[in-house]
Amino acid sequence: MKLETKNLLTGDEISNKEFLELIDFSIKLKEESKMGKGKPLLENKTLAMLFEKPSTRTRVSFETGMLQLGGHTINLSLNDMQHSRGESVEDTAKTLSGYVDAIMARVYEHDFIEKLAKHATVPVINGLSNSFHPCQTLADMMTIKEQFGVFKDIKIAWVGDGNNVCNSLIFGCSKTQTKISIATPKGFEPDPEVVKKASKNTTVDLTTDPKSAVKDANVVMTDTFMSIHTSDSKQTEKFLPSFQVDQSLMIKAKKDAIFMHCLPAKRDQEVTSEVIDGEQSAVWIQAENRLHTQKALLISLLGI
Ligand code: CP
Ligand code: NVA
Repeated sequence: MKLETKNLLTGDEISNKEFLELIDFSIKLKEESKMGKGKPLLENKTLAMLFEKPSTRTRVSFETGMLQLGGHTINLSLNDMQHSRGESVEDTAKTLSGYVDAIMARVYEHDFIEKLAKHATVPVINGLSNSFHPCQTLADMMTIKEQFGVFKDIKIAWVGDGNNVCNSLIFGCSKTQTKISIATPKGFEPDPEVVKKASKNTTVDLTTDPKSAVKDANVVMTDTFMSIHTSDSKQTEKFLPSFQVDQSLMIKAKKDAIFMHCLPAKRDQEVTSEVIDGEQSAVWIQAENRLHTQKALLISLLGI
């Protein structure tokens, strides 16, 4: 398949139809890969990976994905590039476009990735900015489709910080018409523009009560209370104890509900060990699905 959009920056660039197709394509690639039938569809293609922040899953899944598809990656720390000495984003984007077939970047400011995409002639993928994490959303929605078979009538409860992961997830819910109820402390709500836009296509509820959010939920999801870009070291105190996902909260969701977390997790802060290491946890499948969705994404952006 070939996506209409050149870039994936927030998750909202992909149409509803394309989003659903991309998830199904990811599931197909996963099955083929497990059967040893993966094809080298990106032979001789190069992905530049720019990192301004640390990463485990994003780095390894993109690198492995490209390798499995017959291509390769160049891993770049923004600190080691001339950008750190003042070269503009525009010149960096234009230069890289002459060498590589696609660029993935994990950065602080979302503006940076917008600029990179504007000036690059090759596809640009947001591997996490302070505002969005669309690659995570693809893996999250794939995991939900695998677990429940459908998106219709599925309800996600997000408990904790209405952060970058939450913003892109809201777009993912909009694309698939999955309902989402978001419980955050006051002042930690997701981007109101994202909520407004997504609400045209699905139900997005905001609350400060985790118990009401998880009622009838099929999926209970959270993330760290302290994102990489968060400077307030006391932020965690604003979430505890009410916004911790523990067994007493999980019981209030549907009986067959799953627990999800993009990782890395801080056990016994946003989630108890009992929940994340328990039977309802889907976090390892969710992490693995980063690989399959990003392979599908790369193939679809490059139009192979
Ligand atoms: N979930 C996620 O993006 O993990 P990393 O920060 O390890 O890449
Ligand atoms: N919200 C977290 C996600 C890490 C994958 C962060 O931005 O640090």
